[in-house]
Parts: sequence; C-alpha cells; structure tokens
Amino acid sequence: MHVKHLTLSNFRNYTTAELPLNSGINLFVGRNGQGKTNLAEAIFYCATLSSHRVSGYLPLIKRETNKAIIRVLAGFDDRENLLELELNSDGANRARVNKSEISRIRDVLGYVNVVIFSPEDLDIVKRDPSNRRAFIDELLIQLTPRLAGVFSDYERVLKQRNTLLRTSKNLPANSPGLSTLDSWDDSLVRIGSEIIANRYDIVQRMIPHLQDAYSAIADEKNDPNISIRTSLLASSLVDTELDSEDAYLQTLDRAEIETLFRNRLASVRSKELERGLTLVGPHRDDLVLFLGPLQAKGYISHGESWSYALALKLASAALLRKASMAGDPILILDDVFAELDSLRRSRLADLVADNEQVIITAAVVEDVPSELRASRFLVLAGTVEGENG
Ligand SMILES: Nc1ncnc2c1ncn2[C@@H]1O[C@H](COP(=O)(O)OP(=O)(O)OP(=O)(O)O)[C@@H](O)[C@H]1O
Ligand SMILES: [Mg+2]
Repeated sequence: MHVKHLTLSNFRNYTTAELPLNSGINLFVGRNGQGKTNLAEAIFYCATLSSHRVSGYLPLIKRETNKAIIRVLAGFDDRENLLELELNSDGANRARVNKSEISRIRDVLGYVNVVIFSPEDLDIVKRDPSNRRAFIDELLIQLTPRLAGVFSDYERVLKQRNTLLRTSKNLPANSPGLSTLDSWDDSLVRIGSEIIANRYDIVQRMIPHLQDAYSAIADEKNDPNISIRTSLLASSLVDTELDSEDAYLQTLDRAEIETLFRNRLASVRSKELERGLTLVGPHRDDLVLFLGPLQAKGYISHGESWSYALALKLASAALLRKASMAGDPILILDDVFAELDSLRRSRLADLVADNEQVIITAAVVEDVPSELRASRFLVLAGTVEGENG
C-alpha cells in the first residue's frame, strides 16, 4: 500500500500542507527543525493512533490552535481509503473513513500499515521493558486492530484494581471486604491472559524474520532471539539481569496462562495490599532480547544495538506484509541514515529499496545512499516543495 496524498492542518509546525506522494521512494530533505519528522509522525499517527516520539496527542496540535487535522489518502491496487483524523484540545477527537464519521476513533486502525525506523528504536534494545512492550503491542495492534480495545480494557481494569488496592491497604488478605478485588482479579486474568498469549504468539512468529533480517543487516554472524520474561512466574520476582530460564514464558495456551496468572495473583496478594499496586500481569512483563548467549541490553555494542533495532523493524515489516491483503506496509525511515556506518547504510538501502513505498527524512542528503535519492522534497519551516517545482 502507499499514501497517495497527505493533508495537514494545524499539525505541529504546519499551518496547512497539501502533499502528493509517490509510490516508491520519497525523500524529504531539510535543515534541522524544519518539519521533516512531523510529516513522518502524521502518517504514523494515522496507522497507529500513537506517535513515535511522544505519548498523548496534545503536542501534535499546532501551538496556539485547538484543532489539528491529518488526512491520508491511501491506495492499494485500484482501491483507495480516505482517512481523516481531527485532534481537538478542548473536545473529543473524531475520525472519518471515506467521509463517514466513525463512532470509535480506534476503528480507524487497520486501514494503513506503517513501520517506522527512527533513532528512538535504539531504546527498544537498550532501555526499559516499557519500550519493548510498546514496540510489540503497537505491532500487535497493527496486525490485529481488535486488540486496541483489549489493551484499553486492560488499562482500565488495572487502574481500577490499583485504586482498590490502595484504598484497601490495611485489610488482611482474607478480609471479606476484598470480594470486589476477586471480581477485578477475574477481569485482570481474562484480559491480561489474552494480551500475554498474543505477545507470545507474535514473538514466536517474529523470531525467524528477526534472524534473517539480522544476518542481512549486520556484519557479524550472530543469532538474535527473544524470550518473554513474565511476572506470572515466581522466579521473575528475583530481579537480576541474568535471570534463569524458568522466568520465561513457554506457552501460548490461554488456559495454562490463566492458571499461572491466577495462582501468582493469589500468592502475591498480601504483597499487593502492602504496596497498593498490581504486581503481576502483562504490564510487568518484558521481552528479553538475546544476541547469541548474551542479553542485548547491557551487553552488546552500540553498532550491534543498531543492527538489532533495524532487524526488529525489518521483521515487523515482514510480518505485516505476510498478514496483509494490501501488500507492503509503508516504510518510514526518519533520520536513520545519519546514525549508521556506510555498511549498514547500504545494506538497509538494499533491503528497503523495493518496498511499495518508502518515506525517508534526512538533514544531509549525502547521508542517504544514492539509490534512494529519487523523488526529493524540500522541507523548510513548515512548508514542503517538490524539488522540481
Ligand atoms: N505543536 C507544535 N506547534 C508548533 N510548532 C511545533 C509543534 N511541535 C513541534 N513544533 C516545531 O516543529 C519544528 C520541526 O520539528 P521536526 O521534528 O519535524 O524537525 P525535523 O525537520 O525533523 O528536524 P531534525 O532534522 O532536527 O530532526 C520544531 O522546530 C518544533 O519546534
Ligand atoms: Mg527529525
């Protein structure tokens, strides 16, 4: 699939923009702070209802205005979909698909698939579990838009359960006043297990693509692998970097996961009451990224981390391509070439060049391999111009 046209109104530093895009390569060049990443972010937002650099949508609305509009015309073969998002600082956000208003904004998900590569991807490899959960959950939602509802249900249950735990702080674990907690436990286990099973499944499907992508992008021969370290297993509470294998989830069987979850909740209940916090569930799990025998985080080099991050994104693209009836996902490379050495630059260029649409941003055009320099746009202070007029 590809974006045929992008319209922005009061989005970030754009007052208005009308931007026809091509299939194939689209390269946006401009000095720092002119609005290149903002374009990438607008397209990504339509695909995921999230930004690759901030949480929440208020920063996307142009300063001193109260309504941003992103309109994307996406095409595949001879079919087209027109998506329109209206982000409001003072009221509810709204969405239209092919000019009809949709009642839940998240129903806009699934029309456009995007994989974005950006310097922030290093955080997936190097930083906190929350970065890795966000990575896998966003991919899950693109693959199965229905899960957006499951994630938001889980958030809600978690919040309410935490509130209850805080207000029940001094009650003993077997107090009759805790019967409401039991029913929140049921919801937590049911919804949480669905998330955990889906994560496990996607990780298993991703691993072979990750291994292919890593060997295509990296110089060294080395085997990447992913395990899910889960709060459902007791040994995961022993918080060391080099934890033993029995903290890793080994099943996607829902009934089995639910049993683990329920047992674990029962055994940590008094601790939860003490802390006023839900200690078990997908919100406490992590993807452990391995390179050969070592955990990526804390052990592998900066260059290897880049290869790993790129490989995770290439693997995501492969999964989306396989699952979609609308062809390739749109690939957005936001400012990545400047960060890569010449070997990784040219390998990445080879790996993405044939994708149906690739959107690239760069401050310095020479950083972008020459085969990706077709169809150039100049970005200057919230305006975009095709280089040929
Ligand atoms: N809500 C907003 N309202 C107005 N301006 C904004 C808003 N959010 C961001 N900006 C401005 O948009 C400008 C362009 O940002 P963007 O991140 O797109 O730059 P860029 O071209 O990608 O630069 P770089 O090459 O440094 O990555 C910034 O100067 C920023 O101050
Ligand atoms: Mg940028």
